[in-house]
Amino acid sequence: MIREIRDGNAFCICRNMLADGTECGREFVVPFQTCGDEGMDKILHTSINALICEQCREKEAEDERVRQGEEQKHILAESLSERMERTGIPPRFRAMDKPWTRPAAEWIFRHRNESLLIAGETGVGKTSSACFVIRWMMRQQFLRVRYYTRQTLIAEFVQSKTSDNDNELRFLHRLDQLDYLIIDELIGKKGEAKLSPSGQELLFNIVDGVYSWARGTKVWILGNFQAGSIDRLVDDPRPFRRRFQESFRIAWFDGDSVDESLKVFDENQTEED
Ligand SMILES: Nc1ncnc2c1ncn2[C@@H]1O[C@H](COP(=O)(O)OP(=O)(O)OP(=O)(O)O)[C@@H](O)[C@H]1O
Ligand SMILES: [Mg+2]
Ligand SMILES: [Zn+2]
Repeated sequence: MIREIRDGNAFCICRNMLADGTECGREFVVPFQTCGDEGMDKILHTSINALICEQCREKEAEDERVRQGEEQKHILAESLSERMERTGIPPRFRAMDKPWTRPAAEWIFRHRNESLLIAGETGVGKTSSACFVIRWMMRQQFLRVRYYTRQTLIAEFVQSKTSDNDNELRFLHRLDQLDYLIIDELIGKKGEAKLSPSGQELLFNIVDGVYSWARGTKVWILGNFQAGSIDRLVDDPRPFRRRFQESFRIAWFDGDSVDESLKVFDENQTEED
């Protein structure tokens, strides 16, 4: 409230009530020019009287930020299991609070903001680690995530092409909107048959999207890749291999270690190596 008006200023004292029930009492100054009109001056007077000091205003803004942060955290926690369900991640990988295999989970966590190509034998922790890290991130923020296997991805793609109210472009556009696209088991346990031509086209679109920065989507591709896997997957593996090597972080998971050398995908490597 105003204590004194002089020299074009209103000298005020802050009457804001603090948390402990006392008044702030800080002094502060605001410019005050009388405008000659008694009614207007009165209104100005009243509104200046209601002002609080800068420190109190900052404190209130900070309290509001904290309150909104708490509310956001609450909403994120409350909705986590429902949001995990909507990603398409299988139930057994949805609720992990701890990783099942530490080195794998740590590696993915460290590179969580990149596109990843994760190779490794069955049981090394590819799927569980990826899902663990996704869940960790989804706890902090709202992320658009879709989990597919090779089978479900191709099936949904084919369905979009044959459906009356959907098409190929729309399907790709939906993938484009994602923050994370996970393709699990691109290469299965016994190696896999070649992708159909339209499957190859889809995979190329996805991989090239990462390569050309057309999309902000991070793509995580998981599978039991072996030497020669990519050659068996597509007709012309070279553009795939180049894009994987240049735009993806590649790792070979092995029970208790992570190998980042690229030998698994080396062009000159043959199955016998
Ligand atoms: N509830 C559990 N708690 C701890 N570890 C588990 C649990 N269930 C399974 N595991 C183990 O976690 C490991 C990682 O499994 P995960 O499914 O992530 O492997 P993967 O690399 O995806 O294998 P695949 O190539 O067969 O899909 C396995 O060795 C499995 O035995
Ligand atoms: Mg798996
Ligand atoms: Zn104050």
